[in-house]
Amino acid sequence: MSGINYSEKIPNNVNLANDRTLQRALEHWQPHFLDWWKGMGPSDFQGHDVYLRTATSVDADGWASYGTVKMPDYRWGIFLADPVAERKIGFGDSMGQPAWQQVPGEFRSTLRRLIVTQGDTEPASVEQQRLLGHTCPSLYDLRNLFQINVEEGRHLWAMVYLLHAYFGRDGREEAEELLARHSGDADKPRILTTFNEPISDWLSLYCFTYFTDRDGKFQLKSLAESAFDPLSRTCRFMLTEEAHHMFVGETGLARVVKRTLEVMKELGTDDAAKVRAAGAVDLALLQKYLNFWCSSSLDLFGSEISSNSASNFANGLKGRPDESQYADHVLREVQLKLDTPEGAQSVPMLNSLNEVMRESYLKDCETGFKRWNRQIERAGYAFRLALPSTRFRRSIGSWVNQPVTPEGKLVPREEYDRRLHEWIPSEADRAFVRSLMQRVVEPGKMAGWIAPPERGINNLPVEYEYVKLS
Ligand SMILES: [Fe+2]
Ligand SMILES: [Fe+2]
Repeated sequence: MSGINYSEKIPNNVNLANDRTLQRALEHWQPHFLDWWKGMGPSDFQGHDVYLRTATSVDADGWASYGTVKMPDYRWGIFLADPVAERKIGFGDSMGQPAWQQVPGEFRSTLRRLIVTQGDTEPASVEQQRLLGHTCPSLYDLRNLFQINVEEGRHLWAMVYLLHAYFGRDGREEAEELLARHSGDADKPRILTTFNEPISDWLSLYCFTYFTDRDGKFQLKSLAESAFDPLSRTCRFMLTEEAHHMFVGETGLARVVKRTLEVMKELGTDDAAKVRAAGAVDLALLQKYLNFWCSSSLDLFGSEISSNSASNFANGLKGRPDESQYADHVLREVQLKLDTPEGAQSVPMLNSLNEVMRESYLKDCETGFKRWNRQIERAGYAFRLALPSTRFRRSIGSWVNQPVTPEGKLVPREEYDRRLHEWIPSEADRAFVRSLMQRVVEPGKMAGWIAPPERGINNLPVEYEYVKLS
């Protein structure tokens, strides 16, 4: 007996107290998780009180309980969204058959891979963000960072629960590996490239939470369609938390835009050098950061043409986000026209689902741009922020390594190389942004490059001491 009261220590709705095998597996894993959290999670601040949201159940009251807690004492829980009675498979060749409560033998390794790949991103992002606390622009932002970090930790728990509960010894080994790989590690990196990019400044954090957490949203949405019901229910609940991460990105970038416009107004000019000299992020620089993180995140959807995504769909493992919005859920008869460097190509829809997903992702990305551009327009400036083309700076797929501008135009290689840092941050740009990253921790005060948020957390004032540093 470990003496751990699981419903207390690990809030859950999976009846953990009655499953001895699962309990033992998690008892073994939990100290490793905590070691990882202390070693690879937020640097410092582990002993400070933070105003955090904790999920204690999946209903409206319980999923967002607010309180002050030290991060290592956070109650990382395991929650599945409520079951849908007699849920049927909603797409693919087995459409209409009952959803699976256990893993079918023939899909065991593929499902495990999907879960591990999703699971790997969760601790990876915590590692990427671990040093940011030192340069927070405000206590409000510091708290939001930690909220995201503990929730990504909970998402890791969610995936580890599935591995432990449904994949036996292989699953337990994978759960250990999830703590052994590290973001940016030369020998044991995280699985996906974007999750090995360092996030060394808060502008990158807002871009990451805007673009990369949104990729997470789309991956979770497509896994929420899965015929494997425990995976579907797990992902459905994770989506409720993911929304806050994108909120941090969208409002963070809106606050940067707002502050920059204020500075431009004060100075009476939009001259980038003068805006920078006044300690703000000029809009062209912001565009470079958006280009960098958007293009990096677009790669996460995979190649335009993919036999893996075709078989995952046909087999019912992974659907399209919001599958029910489509008319055809089998896709055996449809073709999609894809633009490739060699010209337009007609491809079976089933094989181009990554591209379908990428397109709906980009549509979702547009909302923030509309809002930010309205801010700029209202301030009387002609500058507009824009999403880069899906062909720009691709590391996989048919546009891999093609010299394409953010507008999607193929240009000579020499021109592309010469102009690349007009489009993504140069080392000097990054150094400038780093120079702005001075820690501000007086309650209610903001760093000079970012405007205050419109409101605080959970109806508290912006001046609330969200992290108690004294
Ligand atoms: Fe997550
Ligand atoms: Fe997230």
